Amino acid sequence: MTDRIIITDVGPRDGLQNQLKILATDERVALVRAIADAGVSQIEVGSFVSPKAVPAMAGTDQVFAGLRDQPEYSATSLALIPNMKGYQLARDAGAKMVTMVLYASDGMAQKNAAMSMAEAEAVTVDILNCAREDGIEVVATVAVAFECPFDGPTDPAVVENVVARFMAYGADQVVLADTIGAAHPQQVRDLTAALVAEHGAERLGCHFHDTRAMGLANVFAAVESGVRRFDSSIAGLGGCPFAPGASGNVSTDDVAMMLAQMGFETGIDLGKLMLASDLAARLTGTAPGGRAKPWLQNYLLKTA
Ligand code: COA
Ligand code: ZN
Repeated sequence: MTDRIIITDVGPRDGLQNQLKILATDERVALVRAIADAGVSQIEVGSFVSPKAVPAMAGTDQVFAGLRDQPEYSATSLALIPNMKGYQLARDAGAKMVTMVLYASDGMAQKNAAMSMAEAEAVTVDILNCAREDGIEVVATVAVAFECPFDGPTDPAVVENVVARFMAYGADQVVLADTIGAAHPQQVRDLTAALVAEHGAERLGCHFHDTRAMGLANVFAAVESGVRRFDSSIAGLGGCPFAPGASGNVSTDDVAMMLAQMGFETGIDLGKLMLASDLAARLTGTAPGGRAKPWLQNYLLKTA
């Protein structure tokens, strides 16, 4: 197993989409740059969704335009999409990686994308075919992989099936999303161990929310199974406007610190990450920061 872990910071998308305060384009660009400057491998910089559904994500094309001057920023930037229209908008904006959302329940598929699970899968296959021609990478994220706010607990067999299909279709990554932060570590370990045994860890990732304070424990459980890709959000920003009860993502602040202490290589400079975390808090007025942030800042000051 490799000791390198790829972190995707989803704060500029999963975080900002759920704020009362809508940030201006230059503020969104500044936040992405601060996260990239801290060495985070990948950043979900926004989504191409209906601006009526998620007003905070309107103008994501402008965010991509604001990052274009520095190729290292665009190379690490992802856009979340719910459908083919989103794919086309992301491609036209210059995205080289997209996150397409799949579902482990029909209830969530309907609420989030006005589709059934099967319809979302069919569209994702079409998107994979287009993306291959366009030279764009596709991350297939399985929403509500552990529990759905509408349909209840998710049967792991449903997740295993959808993961197997999209591994076979050649998705560049397949990510299990605990959209509402309901999973517990034993459950995570069992499911991720089974998936790693079946498909290897190379293309598998996890996305946890910290609603029930188990985000970090769930990251650890998946690491133990061999997973080496995680979504997290700067300063713990986050939530999902379409999933009642979802709170912020597990924070990049805490995940990066834990992984560094465990000896994993993430490429993240914790001092610079704190600057990005401070910026997220300043811009939104609500980002709580990682739970270890006060300790981490104090420690970094002392060792500077
Ligand atoms: N980007 C921007 N606009 C889009 C779009 C996209 N990806 N997909 C559809 N639209 C537009 C349509 O053009 C149409 O515009 P109009 O009213 O000006 O004609 C409008 O949205 C409605 O389109 P329709 O196909 O009828 O969709 P819908 O009303 O059933 O909504 C979604 C479906 C998917 C567009 C909408 O629910 C959505 O954007 N959801 C995003 C959910 C999200 O971001 N969740 C959080 C992340 S998991
Ligand atoms: Zn999420």
